[in-house]
Amino acid sequence: MDIKTFGYLYYKTRGFSRDDIIKHAEISHEEYTLYEQTLSTVFDQISEDRTQADKIGNDFVRLTRYIYEKQSDQELKIPRPDAIKARSGELVPLPAIGKTPTPSMSLQEAISNRRSLRKYSDTAITQDELSFLLWSCSWARDFKSNDKIEITLRNVPSAGARHPLETYLYIRRVQGLKSGLYYYHPIKHCLVLMDASPEKEAEIFEGCFRQEMAATSAVTFIWSAVPYRTIWRYGQRAYRYLYLDAGHAAQNLHLAAESINGGACMIGAYLDELMNDALGLDGIDEYVIYIATVGKK
Ligand SMILES: Cc1cc2nc3c(=O)[nH]c(=O)nc-3n(C[C@H](O)[C@H](O)[C@H](O)COP(=O)(O)O)c2cc1C
Repeated sequence: MDIKTFGYLYYKTRGFSRDDIIKHAEISHEEYTLYEQTLSTVFDQISEDRTQADKIGNDFVRLTRYIYEKQSDQELKIPRPDAIKARSGELVPLPAIGKTPTPSMSLQEAISNRRSLRKYSDTAITQDELSFLLWSCSWARDFKSNDKIEITLRNVPSAGARHPLETYLYIRRVQGLKSGLYYYHPIKHCLVLMDASPEKEAEIFEGCFRQEMAATSAVTFIWSAVPYRTIWRYGQRAYRYLYLDAGHAAQNLHLAAESINGGACMIGAYLDELMNDALGLDGIDEYVIYIATVGKK
């Protein structure tokens, strides 16, 4: 979905007038007419879902209590999911984990200095520093695989060591790396170049609600969740854990960014449809769950 389609649906479902939709969604009269003709089914579906959406939070918390738990797919001996999602493409090596810089700042300083940083200098991040940032939040220090189970162990905790998160980077200023969208392989500790086209940058900026730091960061970390990895063990309660896991990864990144004379800003206000499309995710088996922009002070 693009930003104009999103804007039309967003204002339309809120009951805005034709003129106000055109103004706020920044679309032409012709585009408005086209959307009216082609998006009526989507609009009807959103309007129908709205009743359910209004009370989903309370229902979610109540209905994921243990009292409602059923046998999990793991208990039912349904084959295990893979621990990571392989992505094909050009592999881009990163400096080995052992070579990453030891920050001069203490943990205490990093915690007390941490602020959301939304303005960045033009200074690029080195590849050693990028390796260090990835080490803090996404790198797999161990990988275990057999017929029954497959897990990674990382520097962040995860419910049942299921680690349902995947890490994507939009790189703008990392020494020696071309700009573009990358996938991070947590076991091989390397990047996979997914898309270096100039349009990708704009798609991600729009998907981040046009927040300025998403257009100026040295690197934007985009975490997706593959929910079934955790559902396989915990059923619907897994959905609680996805967000807790994301918080752990993001906080490690926040502190690691601080410790290299940089900073981060978390982004929860992103447009799901646009971000999932930008990464080629279906929004069901895998979807964007959290974003963090990073850059130097
Ligand atoms: C879940 C979450 C989502 C957030 N989303 C955004 C966001 O979309 N845009 C933004 O500018 N800041 C965002 N923030 C940063 C908060 O605004 C910030 O942490 C808060 O104002 C406190 O400031 P501090 O981090 O400097 O202490 C988010 C923080 C969290 C934890």
